Amino acid sequence: MTQNHAEAVAGIIKEFAADRIRLMDIALAVQHRFGCIGDDAIHVIADQLGIHAVEVEDMVTFYAFLDREARGRNRIRLSNTPISLMKGAIEVARAFEDALNLKLGETSPDFEFTLEWTSDIGMADQEPAALINDMILTSLTPLDVPGIIAAIRGLEDKDCLPSFPPKAAHMALMPKAIMRPSLIQAGPLLFGAHDPAAGIQAALRMTPEKVIEEITASKLRGRGGAGFPTGMKWRLTQKSAGSEHYVLCNADEGEPGTFKDRMLLAEYPDLVFDGMTIAGYALGSHQGIVYLRGEYAYLWEPLQASLQTRRSQGLLGPHICGHPDFNFDIRIQLGAGAYICGEESALIESLEGKRGAPRDRPPFPTEHGYLQEPSAVDNVETYVCAARIMEKGAAWFTSCGTKQSTGTKLLSVSGDCARPGVYEVPFGITLNDLLDLCGAEDDTAYVQMSGPSGQAVAPKDFGRRIAYEDLSTGGSTMIFGPHRDVLDIALQFSNFFVDESCGWCTPCRVGTTLLKQGMEKIIHGRASLADISATEALANTVARMSRCGLGQTAPNPILTTMRNFPELYEARVAPEKFAPLVALDDALREAIEVQGREPVEV
Ligand SMILES: Cc1cc2nc3c(=O)[nH]c(=O)nc-3n(C[C@H](O)[C@H](O)[C@H](O)COP(=O)(O)O)c2cc1C
Ligand code: SF4
Repeated sequence: MTQNHAEAVAGIIKEFAADRIRLMDIALAVQHRFGCIGDDAIHVIADQLGIHAVEVEDMVTFYAFLDREARGRNRIRLSNTPISLMKGAIEVARAFEDALNLKLGETSPDFEFTLEWTSDIGMADQEPAALINDMILTSLTPLDVPGIIAAIRGLEDKDCLPSFPPKAAHMALMPKAIMRPSLIQAGPLLFGAHDPAAGIQAALRMTPEKVIEEITASKLRGRGGAGFPTGMKWRLTQKSAGSEHYVLCNADEGEPGTFKDRMLLAEYPDLVFDGMTIAGYALGSHQGIVYLRGEYAYLWEPLQASLQTRRSQGLLGPHICGHPDFNFDIRIQLGAGAYICGEESALIESLEGKRGAPRDRPPFPTEHGYLQEPSAVDNVETYVCAARIMEKGAAWFTSCGTKQSTGTKLLSVSGDCARPGVYEVPFGITLNDLLDLCGAEDDTAYVQMSGPSGQAVAPKDFGRRIAYEDLSTGGSTMIFGPHRDVLDIALQFSNFFVDESCGWCTPCRVGTTLLKQGMEKIIHGRASLADISATEALANTVARMSRCGLGQTAPNPILTTMRNFPELYEARVAPEKFAPLVALDDALREAIEVQGREPVEV
């Protein structure tokens, strides 16, 4: 590292007040400035933050969007989910390979381009899509690719590396950098005009306790998947002792197939910030943080602009809406490509500038969360619901939905249907109703509800109702037609969990890989009935013994397809007289010769 580089890294650290907690921002800024975080940068960061270099390296190596070694200045990432692959991602990838004379996973010798697969980028309704640095390109065809590469090569300042904070400036110059609005059907939550101050003003007319009572009366349950009662979470957080209370918004949205939070952040940011501000008042908090997944960096600028407007309107900052004692502001923290950071305790670790490894619980974040202070972590959609509840009242909210699942749910619908996008539906509608709405074919083979960590629902269950008490979902709804290979899709989802396991506990770290291998054996017709049973037993063990929600749900693609499509597994059972692909004696020949003794027949 030259003197200039060292000074530049030191300058970045100074921008963040040499604050250890802001290590993620420092790492992202260094990555964006130099294309990687090399050994020298690690040592400068460690020295200036007063921590060990191993701690910095440990953090940096955890995240997919941070590199230890230089890659291309233009990073082209294509998602390799079942949805993107069935929409033509492979053909688009081949076109990129041809245009760049590169193979997937490679970097060009001049370090201009890196081409690679990544997991879901939150665009399942507009696949094939690509992330090029911080730009998002949607609905691609192979024919678009030469124009895209020419446009990147022609960028005037040649510096297409994402800046930090990210700028959207280059998006306007790129073909296909157009995001189609994802909302297809609005319901009571999103329909009609919205006055940004209405919910906050209604809350400020009440005491914080009364606000929590109203949220409790609405029976709002968390929209991130687990369905925890929001009023109870807010009360637990408010009642916990601490020198500060934090309002955290989970905008990590890493579950393949989901994009409704991206839609809310892009199209309804005021409702999200209203909800967070109302939570801030209820919890006695002064600080809210949105944890925005790295894949959504292109939302950074518009979200910052929206925060700035709210400050100028007196909806953020000191004395909100003229209230003498209510001071609250929101900042945005970018993530760096790790699905596990959607798990609330891993999210908090990441917010504190560490690797995103889940914490042991208890204590829960409501007691010891961000900086060990009481913190409420809620999903983007949950905050939107809270804003509307304060504006229109708990009774308005409970008038929709079912007894145990009040209100509406935003569903991200993708796959084999005529109209993919976000649908706001009242809780209680059947899966059949949804399939009609989005134009799915009558012969739909199955629906993957709530993403890979959810369940594969077979046609016999399409009459089930979407509700916490029946088919519970965080929103991801992937539809697969009769020509799709159910087991191959289950294998792709199993691969996803292998890639995303944080590696902390053995059942998940080793178990996900063994499950993937088990599925491969089954799919290739090399498994006996006993092998299939063993895979099922292993899946149950991984689900039971893993430390956090990721490992506990990772076997679901296998377990739920085994339960609902046993005939597909049976059809792949190896013939009785199975001839192994590997000739054991040949495979061992070299070792036998080295050892100098022949194997003994038993
Ligand atoms: C592996 C994993 C990933 C998760 N990802 C998300 C996510 O992207 N967004 C989200 O809101 N919740 C996610 N969750 C759930 C959160 O841990 C937490 O329950 C949620 O943010 C609470 O908000 P809510 O009560 O509003 O649903 C995830 C959980 C696990 C185990
Ligand atoms: S279950 Fe998986 S993701 Fe969770 S702590 Fe264990 S290894 Fe990490």
